[in-house]
Amino acid sequence: MHRQYSLSDRFLEHADSMLRTLFASPEPNRRSPDHNSTGHNLTEWEIDESKRLMRVNHSGEVCAQALYQGQSVTARDSKLRETFQEAAEEENDHLAWCEHRIKSLGGRTSVLNPFFYAGSFTIGAFVGVLGDRTSAAFLAETEYQVVDHLDGHLNRLPVTDKKSHEILTQMREDELSHAKTAEAAGADELPDPVKGLMKLMSKFMTRSSYWIWTTLL
Ligand SMILES: [Fe+2]
Ligand SMILES: [Fe+2]
Repeated sequence: MHRQYSLSDRFLEHADSMLRTLFASPEPNRRSPDHNSTGHNLTEWEIDESKRLMRVNHSGEVCAQALYQGQSVTARDSKLRETFQEAAEEENDHLAWCEHRIKSLGGRTSVLNPFFYAGSFTIGAFVGVLGDRTSAAFLAETEYQVVDHLDGHLNRLPVTDKKSHEILTQMREDELSHAKTAEAAGADELPDPVKGLMKLMSKFMTRSSYWIWTTLL
């Protein structure tokens, strides 16, 4: 029998997901793309730069989890809700791969992640309230912006850090497929000012994750 979930059931389910995202080490469904790569000897500067960039990507994945969870709480169509949940599972792989890579470089994840999660969940839930087509459009635009961001990081990462390159390359492929799925789910076109605001918010997240751990702690 197909169980109907109430709004409070969904919130409890997402509270569980939030705790796992922020405070547990996620278990990936797929092996990390870097598992065949032997890795190179990186200089101290290269290690530091890779740690910072992968910390930004990890925070981005925390935001992705929160956005998808927020959007699925308020999505009206159960099929769209399933789409969000499926994408969130792939994002969980990204979260796990980034965390593992940061740890193997001797780094730490951002202390700001709980704030990023709370902000992104709220935005996701709010966008969901605006309607399923707007929510799908927001998702597609988010994913396209993430693809652009990953292209930038693939250029900035030290060329010797093959492992991080392999992880980001697979993530880029997945994000592009999430964008196409959202478009196929009936996404509307988002107004340009909304797209601009989204870029501004992501700039805040990327800059603060890049600098804050080492600056404040
Ligand atoms: Fe992702
Ligand atoms: Fe994605």
